[in-house]
Amino acid sequence: MSIKQLISAVAVSSALAYPAVASDYLDTSTVFSDQDKTAEMRVIFVPEDSAISSPEWSADARKAVARAASIEEFDGKADQLTSIIAPEGTKANHLLLAGVGNPAELSRFEAEKIGAAIAAALKPELDEVVFDARLMSNPGIAAEVAANVAHGIDLRNYRFDRYQSEPKARPATQYHWLVKSPKSAEKQYAITRGIAEGVFVARDITALPGSDGYPEAIVKLAQAAMKDLDIDVTVVTPAQVKEMGMGLLTSVSQGSQHGSYLLVAHYKGSDETPIALVGKGNTFDTGGYNLKTSSSSILRMQTDKAGAGAVIGSVMALAAQKAPVNVVAVAPLSHNLISGSATLPGDVVKAGDGTLVEIANTDAEGRLILGDGNWYANDKFAPRAIANIATLTGSKVGALGTGYAAMFASDNELRTTIKEAGNITGEKVWELPLEGYPGIIDSPLADIRNIGSPGTQAGAAFLKHFAGDTPWVHIDMAADAMVSSPTGIHPAGPTGFGVRLLTEWVLQLDQ
Ligand code: BES
Ligand code: MN
Ligand code: ZN
Repeated sequence: MSIKQLISAVAVSSALAYPAVASDYLDTSTVFSDQDKTAEMRVIFVPEDSAISSPEWSADARKAVARAASIEEFDGKADQLTSIIAPEGTKANHLLLAGVGNPAELSRFEAEKIGAAIAAALKPELDEVVFDARLMSNPGIAAEVAANVAHGIDLRNYRFDRYQSEPKARPATQYHWLVKSPKSAEKQYAITRGIAEGVFVARDITALPGSDGYPEAIVKLAQAAMKDLDIDVTVVTPAQVKEMGMGLLTSVSQGSQHGSYLLVAHYKGSDETPIALVGKGNTFDTGGYNLKTSSSSILRMQTDKAGAGAVIGSVMALAAQKAPVNVVAVAPLSHNLISGSATLPGDVVKAGDGTLVEIANTDAEGRLILGDGNWYANDKFAPRAIANIATLTGSKVGALGTGYAAMFASDNELRTTIKEAGNITGEKVWELPLEGYPGIIDSPLADIRNIGSPGTQAGAAFLKHFAGDTPWVHIDMAADAMVSSPTGIHPAGPTGFGVRLLTEWVLQLDQ
């Protein structure tokens, strides 16, 4: 069965065809070469305050370009982008000058953002673009900047358009990079390609509408996406979830025709003790009987599975680059709906680890499925660290908005490395305290309950309970899963938040 058939077999919508590799997502191609080429559009990367030139330009051409640049007040600062039409004495119809500041100090994320801005400025129907990176004098640094800019272009060119009968044209351009060290650029770009693929899969998982992207469908999508990678996939079915005693995970889907699954994706690139990434895969959040009653609070709750996308995408990215790490993604998948069989507020449910939990609010479901996810990770993998990632609480959005994800950590090394990874990737985290809230999830009825105040801390405290003694970090990415308009490396739609962060974090932790 082809992937397309496989997916349409489980999906309600025939619009759902699942691409398996990055080249299925992008209609562009990217090559690195030390040979020049003539193209209609030429992009030149200009370090700050350096003369703008190309070997074949006449003196007049250099003057014309310098004049245009100065009129536009372009001096090569990172982020500046200036378009020049048909400069005299050059072969290109369009020149785009892209400032790179001091290339040696340009961060990876800054380079990616420059790529995104370029992608946004290029018309999708362009046949070919030449990127000239030779003005950056250090060939090694130029190669690195080129690869990161190319990555930013790829990230921005993604489209979630499978639900459009006539999607807008996707960028379908040949990108020809002109660098002094093509081999080195190619090598680094290949790594970013695996990361991009992980981000794209996470974006797809995030964006699938709730009636198509129910737990079993996500399992099939993830299996199809991972099939060519060296990843060991285990699918725990609804019956097995129940059988193993994961009552919290079972309870969240009890009101749905689609039962809860647990998807496990293990990439073993080293013999070290594994790192577990446990991501929230609530495939739709109605709130359950604590129903989300405003149209704005329930809309887009298909994105409540973004944490699952993040952990699956991260393991894909690490496997694709054959990183020397041992990492396992655990994605509990639920469908939080209502019916005569749905969990009722006040019900008491037994978790995998035996804890009796008072479900005081059925809308605090993410921590329930992650609680059992953490237990499963500990029980089956005895990991050296657990990272939770989830669209967990509305209070996170109130506290931090979307510029930062909230972070909690029980361990100093995890805290430091996750902050570092956030700064490198631009998926930034801000730590909130967890000390000083005694009794925050105490229950008058059972062992603990699933709500407390403040809300973000209560969610974190609940997850920490199920991490046990394992060093733990938690990222509350509520409202970071989607953008309504194009933002930097993200086109409008799902962001795939967490893939770049967690991929970098695992690499940092393993150094
Ligand atoms: N999935 C939501 C959190 C959320 C809210 C994500 C807004 C993205 C945007 C979560 O399951 C939820 O409903 N949390 C409740 C918990 C409360 C009932 C204790 C919340 O934060 O309001
Ligand atoms: Mn909820
Ligand atoms: Zn939720």
